[in-house]
Amino acid sequence: MASNVTMDTIVSLCKRRGFVFPSSEIYGGFGSTYDYGPLGVELLRNVRNLWWRAMVQEREDVVGLEASILGPSAVWEASGHVSNFTDPLVDCKNCRMRWREDHLLEGNYEAEYGATKRDAAGKLLCPNCGGELTDPRKFNMMFKTFVGVVEDTASVAYLRPETAQGMFYNFSNVLGSMRRKLPFGIAQVGKSFRNEITPGNFVFRTREFEQMEMEFFVKPGSDDDWHSYWIEERFQWYLKYGIKKENLRIRPHTKDELSFYSKATSDVEYEFPWGWGELEGIANRTNYDLTQHAKHSGKDLSYFDEETKEHIVPYVIEPAAGATRTALTFLIDAYAEEPDKDETRIVLHLHPAIAPVKVAVLPLSKKEPLVNLSKEVAKKLRRKWVVQYDESQSIGKRYRRQDEIGTPFCITVDFQSLEDNAVTIRDRDTMEQIRVPIAELSSMLEGKLALD
Ligand code: GAP
Repeated sequence: MASNVTMDTIVSLCKRRGFVFPSSEIYGGFGSTYDYGPLGVELLRNVRNLWWRAMVQEREDVVGLEASILGPSAVWEASGHVSNFTDPLVDCKNCRMRWREDHLLEGNYEAEYGATKRDAAGKLLCPNCGGELTDPRKFNMMFKTFVGVVEDTASVAYLRPETAQGMFYNFSNVLGSMRRKLPFGIAQVGKSFRNEITPGNFVFRTREFEQMEMEFFVKPGSDDDWHSYWIEERFQWYLKYGIKKENLRIRPHTKDELSFYSKATSDVEYEFPWGWGELEGIANRTNYDLTQHAKHSGKDLSYFDEETKEHIVPYVIEPAAGATRTALTFLIDAYAEEPDKDETRIVLHLHPAIAPVKVAVLPLSKKEPLVNLSKEVAKKLRRKWVVQYDESQSIGKRYRRQDEIGTPFCITVDFQSLEDNAVTIRDRDTMEQIRVPIAELSSMLEGKLALD
């Protein structure tokens, strides 16, 4: 079982400490939308940057892209989203509650709603009241809008429901401008939008969210090997940044679960407080997307293979992760309540690379010489890291505040510091303290805060 933390505890910590706020809160909130507060933006930025580092910066075979969020309907007709990106919805004839039929069928019924209710003929009944359900209706999840002043068919546009399509319709642009050879990838981080009917579990499933996706173009025939390769790479990434192995698993999709474009998909799943849930899907999208865009646009999206002197349409392996969902997962996995003397300390054991604040500088007293020296130390460290300076309340309380937001190191400046030009570094996890000369502080922290 995952850590025993409840979602209520995580939601409350996020609000209290400035990670995530309900959006438009003073107007009563706006269903399933959230704003990332001062610590949340740092956390999200770290998640994005570490993903980018692993998927683009450290690789010679992947380049980046930032495509537009708004797209013409032609793109989404070609991609199949206009006709296929639908959820089957069923309504309860009695209490009128609306459900996603696939959520009731996937064996998730028990996990999400408790014991399955069925009628005498075995037909599923409403999880809420046991009432009869309607036949499923298809509901398209894309957000539709109109561009320009006239709201007619020609001006229909959509907010992207995945970042992937920008990488497909730019395939030739990237190929030509970057002189790439197969295999190579195009990566993108950005917002996507889905009109989810059953959003929930805080930022796990929202209507506006952020994705981190990479389309890796390979020669047909090498796709199965590359698929296995990326499943393993992505699994290791979560472990590298501290997610506990026992809370992670890889789950291949069954045939009837596969997305309309996929030959095979495996999910990296995490054991959330409510059960196992998807963190990332790694799909073999075959040549579906490039073929569709070539057909609908009339443009040639093939690749000329110098070896065989043939034009081929590459296959695509796609590791598709959620940045916002991953950030939530890091928080849940890092959360601990630990006995400390007569109290309980709340601590986020975040990997230093994920932690929103890296260092806190805490003067032992508010007396001027200490404050001046502390601010000087903080200013120097700020050139490299996100640093908090805090002089209010007792040192014990200040340590607690930093533990609760996962700050890996607290630096205490005391009266002795004025004499020996040294400070104390406290380690968040072990709570051990060591004395370090100020002159060596930066290089020492550099070692401790290294990304690998
Ligand atoms: N291009 C493929 C694709 O979009 P997906 O499995 O639908 O695949 C990829 O989405 C990832 O995006 C998911 O694993 C999840 O982390 C994230 N994601 C999808 N829908 C989400 C939502 N409504 N809220 C938050 N994250 C979401």
